[in-house]
This record gives sequence, structure tokens and C-alpha cells, in this order.
Amino acid sequence: MNSQFQRAEIESLSHDGRGVARIDGKVFFVDLALPGELVHFQRGRKRRSYETGKVVEVLRPSPDRVEPPCEYFGVCGGCALQHLSATKQILAKAAQLNDCLARVAKVQADDYAEPITGPAWGYRRKARLGVRFVPKKGGVLVGFRERRKSYITPLRRCMVLDAYISGLLPAMQILLQGMSCCDQIPQIEVAVGDNATSLVFRHLVDLTASDLDALRAFAETRGVQVFLQPGGLDSVRAHHPQAPAMLHYCLQQHNITIAFEPTDFIQVNADINQKLVNAAIEYLDPGPEDSILDLFCGLGNFTLPVARRAGKVWGVEGDAGLVQRAKYNAERNQIDNVEFVQSDLYVDDFDAAWTERAYDKVLLDPPRTGAINVIKALRRLNPQRVVYISCNPATLARDTELLVRKMGFRFKLARVVDMFPHTTHVEAISVFERKAQK
Ligand SMILES: C[S@@+](CC[C@H](N)C(=O)[O-])C[C@H]1O[C@@H](n2cnc3c(N)ncnc32)[C@H](O)[C@@H]1O
Repeated sequence: MNSQFQRAEIESLSHDGRGVARIDGKVFFVDLALPGELVHFQRGRKRRSYETGKVVEVLRPSPDRVEPPCEYFGVCGGCALQHLSATKQILAKAAQLNDCLARVAKVQADDYAEPITGPAWGYRRKARLGVRFVPKKGGVLVGFRERRKSYITPLRRCMVLDAYISGLLPAMQILLQGMSCCDQIPQIEVAVGDNATSLVFRHLVDLTASDLDALRAFAETRGVQVFLQPGGLDSVRAHHPQAPAMLHYCLQQHNITIAFEPTDFIQVNADINQKLVNAAIEYLDPGPEDSILDLFCGLGNFTLPVARRAGKVWGVEGDAGLVQRAKYNAERNQIDNVEFVQSDLYVDDFDAAWTERAYDKVLLDPPRTGAINVIKALRRLNPQRVVYISCNPATLARDTELLVRKMGFRFKLARVVDMFPHTTHVEAISVFERKAQK
């Protein structure tokens, strides 16, 4: 098997969206290939237990293959699944979730509800765009990283980005190209609120007066808020307008407005977020007698709508700035049955006041690393129900095993949430109910 090119039948899809083939007992991960296809591919990296490759020709296409509408697909690392039909993308995500649960947790949910889906394009309201100065490629490049490479894909549009931001990409490139320190600006962080759009320019050297003027003119003509970031996150300052309106998004069905700073965590997909908040409320089923704990609460995205229905809600979050904004959001929405607390949820020993009382229900929405430490602490908090929103099936499965096998919960429901269409990110919402004591 020495040829640089190879033929293979693709058996399955890997977690990062590559076709998986087996040749002479060796596993091949083939970029741009789909299950059931016969492909001709170029071999790439060789490792002891596997090899990689990239499709050169699809000899027998899958009926689920579709023409990727984006001209950068295959090069840009932003999307991995545009060549797979939308229905099959969701099924692939559900299969990945089930596979993780079966392998790691060795349990299945009693019920798998229909996936939560939304618009497939223009959904990204938060993104970090890379910037590189590469003279031999024509100057400044603005875009996402290339697939499995550290180069930047020069994007003139992006179909998953918010449409206004996508339309601004060529103008951002021209702006940066004209700046004296265009080789010292590594990234632009984009955040789209319902009221305004912000761009945070990270810069590694001081900007000249003409650079500052150019950014000011860009903010004015393009109707965006421009922020500068000379150092860490706490160095972010408004440049133009000097006192911009605070960004916000609305959870209309709950009559709630969530204000946020440009670099704050917000759920990327506004439509899915609204549906996810509704699902969390449906599964928590908060009532006036309930005391509810929202762990990893951020700006109060779930805490505040839940508080509209519950007796009392506690929101716990590690980032002091987010806690401050969550308190502001409670005030702004005239919600006074909430308490927000700053606490590190990855410690081994919790001795904070919020751990000294019992709760009826708990909502968890951790980062990719999951919630193992805080789940161990749930023993003391004694909730009847846990609703767990996860962005990583591997840690969800690990935490599910703990909840079900050691903590006496029944795994009632799991549901895939298509927060990031065309990517391989799998988001899910799950429900656990304490088993009746015998
Ligand atoms: C997936 S986000 C969810 C935020 C919020 N629930 C929302 O819907 O916007 C995860 C949150 O966990 C917080 N977080 C990360 N590390 C943490 C830690 N060690 N302790 C507490 N919170 C942490 C992040 O700041 C972030 O707000």
C-alpha cells in the first residue's frame, strides 16, 4: 500500500466530519468523504494506528451528498459538513451523542426528543476572525483558520456569519490593509446585538493617529461600534463611539432583555438560544414553590426567564464581569427573585453559602470540560431534577454516568440542539430525575 492515491469504501463519519475507511486493517480518516461512498483519495499524514487523506474524486456518491453552497468549503475550517444534507447532519450529531453515551456512560435516555433546529445560514452572532499579513497572498487576510492548518482563509463572505458582518468582510480587509500596523493586528472579535454590532480589534503595538482615524471613520460609515484591545480582556476599551450603547439581545417570549459587553459569552445562535431557553423552561417546569439553581449562568440567559416562573432562582458563575452584568440584567428586567453569586465551579471542595441549602431543580450549562465537580456536590443540594445543557458529548456522557450510576438519577430525556449547523459541534439538552426512594 505505497501508492500516494488510494480507493476506499467509506464506512462511517468521524466526530470531526471525516469519512472513515478501513484498508488492510488500518483506519483512514478521509476529508470530504461521506459514509457509503466509494472515493479516490490522496493519502496524507501517516501514523502508526491511522492515516489521513483527502478526496480527489467521488466515484460513487452518497444519496445524502449535497453541493456545498460556500466557495470556501473544503479549505476554511469554519464548517465541516456543508456537503451533507441538513437532515443527515442532524442524524450524524444524534448518532455521535448516542455513541458517546453508549460507550462512556453505558446508559441510554428513556426518550430522545426531536432535535431543536433553526436557520441553517447567517446564524453566527459571535465570532473571532483571524487576521494575518501575508504579502505573497496579496496583503491582509481576514477570516477563519483553514481546516487543520494555522493559515487564515481569506473570506470575502461567510454564509454562516450574521449577514451584515459577512457583508462587511471586504471592507474590513481594505480597512486593515490601509493601517500602518496591519501586521500587528491578530484578530477581530465580532458580537452582534439586537441593537448594535461591535468589533473588537486586538492590537499588539500602539496605533498611530491615522490608524485611529481610519477606525473611527469605519465605525461611522459602517454603523458599528469599534473597540480596541491592546492587552488582555480587561484592556478592551470603546474607541468609537466613545460611549456606545450597551449591546443587548431580547428573549421576546419572556419579555427579557439581556445586556452584554462585546467579549462576553453569549449563545452563538439567537434563534436556537430562544428555543433552548423555552426547552429548559419546559423541562424545569418552574413553579411558584420551586427554588432553582442555575450553574454556569453567565449573563442570566436562563436564570432570568426561569425566575419569571419560579419562586426563587440562584445563578452561579465564575466570571466576575458576567455576574455583575447578570445582576444588572435582573434589575433592568425588574426581576427580584434571583440572586447571582460568583463562584469557581471547578474546585474540589465547595464551601460557598449557596451550597448550604437545598434546591428543587438544578440547571447546568458548563463549558466543554463538563460539570463533574459540581455534580459531585449535588448530593448535598438534593435536587429532584437536573436539566443539563452540554456542548460536548464526551463530558456529558462522563457526567451522565456519574448522575445515573452513583447519584441515583434516572436519565429521562436527551435532545440534540443544532446550535452550529454545518459544523461538527454537538449541543444537547438532557433531563435527569431523582429515582424514587424505596
Ligand atoms: C456555555 S457558557 C453558558 C453561559 C450561560 N448559561 C448562557 O446561556 O449564556 C458556560 C459558562 O461557564 C462559565 N465558567 C467557565 N469556567 C467556570 C468556572 N471555573 N466556574 C464557574 N463558571 C465558569 C463561563 O464564564 C460561561 O459563562
